[in-house]
Amino acid sequence: MTSTPEWCRPRAVPEPVREVRLRVNGESRTVVCRGDTPLLYLLRNDLGLRGSRFGCGLAQCGACMVLLDGRAVPSCDLPAWAAEDHEVETVEGLAPDPVMSALQQAFLRRQAAQCGFCTSGILVSACAHLRAGAATDPVSTAEALERNLCRCGSHGRVLAAVADAAEALQAARRAECGADGPPVTAPRADGPRGAR
Ligand code: FES
Ligand code: FES
Repeated sequence: MTSTPEWCRPRAVPEPVREVRLRVNGESRTVVCRGDTPLLYLLRNDLGLRGSRFGCGLAQCGACMVLLDGRAVPSCDLPAWAAEDHEVETVEGLAPDPVMSALQQAFLRRQAAQCGFCTSGILVSACAHLRAGAATDPVSTAEALERNLCRCGSHGRVLAAVADAAEALQAARRAECGADGPPVTAPRADGPRGAR
């Protein structure tokens, strides 16, 4: 039995243009657009946040990763309406976070970016992974980054950089609080920096 080709299936009725209200990097932002516009388009084209990249547009490569309530998700196939009432953090908003700072330094030291197209998405996913206090052995990190592809093949150096960042954060924790102090990688209870 033959199935109906994709191109002749009826299309969903487009959502009307309206005000979409978002919380991005701790700020309230309003954009007038169709409610089903991908979040990535709003971030890049309307809010000028171009750190999230357009790679595949199909939620396959991870170049567009953002945090939605602290969870790494691709923003290229996330309709704007689905991000309303949630906290969106982009790579720009994560910049002051000590976890992101440790990751950036480790990526530089390990030369974990080649062309760099995938790097912001990888940093966002890695930041969520370290904030959660998850294991940073190569297998656990590879699983956490499985939705991030790198066509330059820098995966080995990325895994090493994430492990370095985790070590640096643990060392900072020991120096500041002693071995039993709160983990530097713990997610903030009050949401993104400056959100309140
Ligand atoms: S551009 Fe979003 S996953 Fe590839
Ligand atoms: S560094 Fe080029 S795609 Fe990853």
